[in-house]
Amino acid sequence: MEYIIEAENLNVYFDELHILKGVSLKIPKNTVTALIGPSGCGKSTFIRTLNRMNDLISTFRMDGTVLLDGEDIYNPKVDVVDLRKRVGMVFQKPNPFPKSIFDNVAYGLRVHGINDKDILEHKVEEALKGAALWDEVENILDKSAMGLSGGQQQRLCIARTIAVEPEVILMDEPCSALDPISTTKIEDLIHKLKKDYTIIIVTHNMQQATRVSKYAAFFLHGEIVENGRTEQIFLEPCDQRTEDYITGRFG
Ligand SMILES: Nc1ncnc2c1ncn2[C@@H]1O[C@H](COP(=O)(O)OP(=O)(O)O)[C@@H](O)[C@H]1O
Ligand SMILES: [Mg+2]
Repeated sequence: MEYIIEAENLNVYFDELHILKGVSLKIPKNTVTALIGPSGCGKSTFIRTLNRMNDLISTFRMDGTVLLDGEDIYNPKVDVVDLRKRVGMVFQKPNPFPKSIFDNVAYGLRVHGINDKDILEHKVEEALKGAALWDEVENILDKSAMGLSGGQQQRLCIARTIAVEPEVILMDEPCSALDPISTTKIEDLIHKLKKDYTIIIVTHNMQQATRVSKYAAFFLHGEIVENGRTEQIFLEPCDQRTEDYITGRFG
């Protein structure tokens, strides 16, 4: 199996709080891995270590290694802007910029120095098609993104992420602010995107984890209790705590 990310023995602290405790996880390429576990167990903190988003928090300290394509992303030589292009992120609440639909998708391309109008138009169209939003917005590209529905805004955020052609897309509960129809659209999109991208999705929804993911990891109190094929985790969990969680006994 080919792994795109290998996290090895990660410990994360915020001040004296020990948040992640010896977390190791390998992420297979071009598949969907779901991270599950009760609120506060460290799922968001973990995915934020994968594109160095925690670096923005002054109290953050970490040890352990994260390899992306075999290279240590915490090496001081790594360009963090370039890293976040390779490992993109979609958040729980859709967070479009208060700009036009076009400019939202073009944003990252411009940051990376693409200013040619024809290239921008082509890449924006490709990204919107990739995010299954093009048909709904092709005639309103110059309108504000804030006028879109929540589900459309989330697909726009996905378009903005894929426009710069990342290798990995981190999704932190991307459907939890959406209605069921918009959620289905995002899940369909995840199925389509996994051909070209590696996706790591945090989800509270057990059915969603079984629908979208091939691999899953169960977090509890800052540790990974167990990880493996999603059907194994859900049908034949090895650990009693996993079974208690997936059957709804806590969390
Ligand atoms: N910036 C921060 N400073 C201090 N503690 C934090 C910070 N961010 C998260 N935490 C704590 O880290 C733990 C894990 O949080 P988080 O990774 O957000 O969990 P999850 O995403 O699984 O709900 C929680 O106890 C949370 O309160
Ligand atoms: Mg979280």
